[in-house]
Amino acid sequence: MPLANAINGRTKLVGVMGWPVEHSLSPQMHNAALAALGLNHCYVPLAVAPERLRDAVAGLRALDFVGCNVTVPHKQAVREYMQEISEEAQAVGAVNTLVRRGDGWAGYNSDVPGFLATLANTRFAPTTATEEGFECRGKRTLILGAGGAARGIIYALARSGATVVIVNRTPSRAEALAREMSLLFPGAALEALPLTPAALKKEAETAHLLVNTTTVGMWPETAHSLWPDELAYPPHLTLFDLIYNPLRTRLIAQAEAAGARTISGLKMLVYQGAFSFRWWFGVMPPVDVMYQVCLNELAANTRFAPTANTRFAPTKR
Ligand code: ATR
Repeated sequence: MPLANAINGRTKLVGVMGWPVEHSLSPQMHNAALAALGLNHCYVPLAVAPERLRDAVAGLRALDFVGCNVTVPHKQAVREYMQEISEEAQAVGAVNTLVRRGDGWAGYNSDVPGFLATLANTRFAPTTATEEGFECRGKRTLILGAGGAARGIIYALARSGATVVIVNRTPSRAEALAREMSLLFPGAALEALPLTPAALKKEAETAHLLVNTTTVGMWPETAHSLWPDELAYPPHLTLFDLIYNPLRTRLIAQAEAAGARTISGLKMLVYQGAFSFRWWFGVMPPVDVMYQVCLNELAANTRFAPTANTRFAPTKR
């Protein structure tokens, strides 16, 4: 892992606000990119209690931060303190990147471009079975889950001209999300189904892409998968699992065993970080460097798992 950037009197700050924030890979990933580009900035973790969010956002400006990422649980609440909010962040209902705007902040969401860039360009670290990009337009996509993480994915796919079938344990949530997204994209094809083996079997026959947006399979519950054991995974169905801890979820293992292409959530973590970086510094950072740093960090932390209280708490980003 690259050494921390040398800090001097001219060093400027960027960071990530979360609660907790100890698990975040963003400091390692961004500091590696800053070092690779020789930028005199430092990316710091900022543990911000929910009741301190307003003060923390004001403090960022006072401390002359260049920008900041925002993670759980602040992505919705932080919207209130923005000068303006991008169309994407507005539609997704979550801000994860603050960009300086006058004397305040503009709120952006890098999950949408991060997800699409991952699909379009999966080559930068050929450590998974996926070796080529996935073109969304006209494709049938199956989304597992209808929570916060699903919103950005569904928005991105609907905007890209894909058919989106939302499959969720609680069907009413899937229906509400499909309705909400069809208001944004009146011509888009959006459907909602309950999460049953029969629905998965039928939909999987014609779908091209399956995206897991749920937390099922995430460390430490790594034995779980929403794909039923009794159902053969179709080899034609590309799998994108947003989970990156573990890198190889049980669902990814099922898809790989069937010969399907798979994409790990770690690439999306890197790309969403890369878009934040570009908004702050105007250049695309070296995603391969960032990816390698995250891989190293995950491997190092896996060695210390499964003891409780490790640095790598179960989280998606
Ligand atoms: P996030 O913001 O990470 O998406 P969330 O809003 O709590 O978190 O949503 C979690 C998603 O995972 C939901 O779609 C949830 O299904 P429900 O809407 O039925 O709650 C899904 N999920 C979580 N645990 C699940 C499980 N054991 N089986 C099926 N779906 C599950």
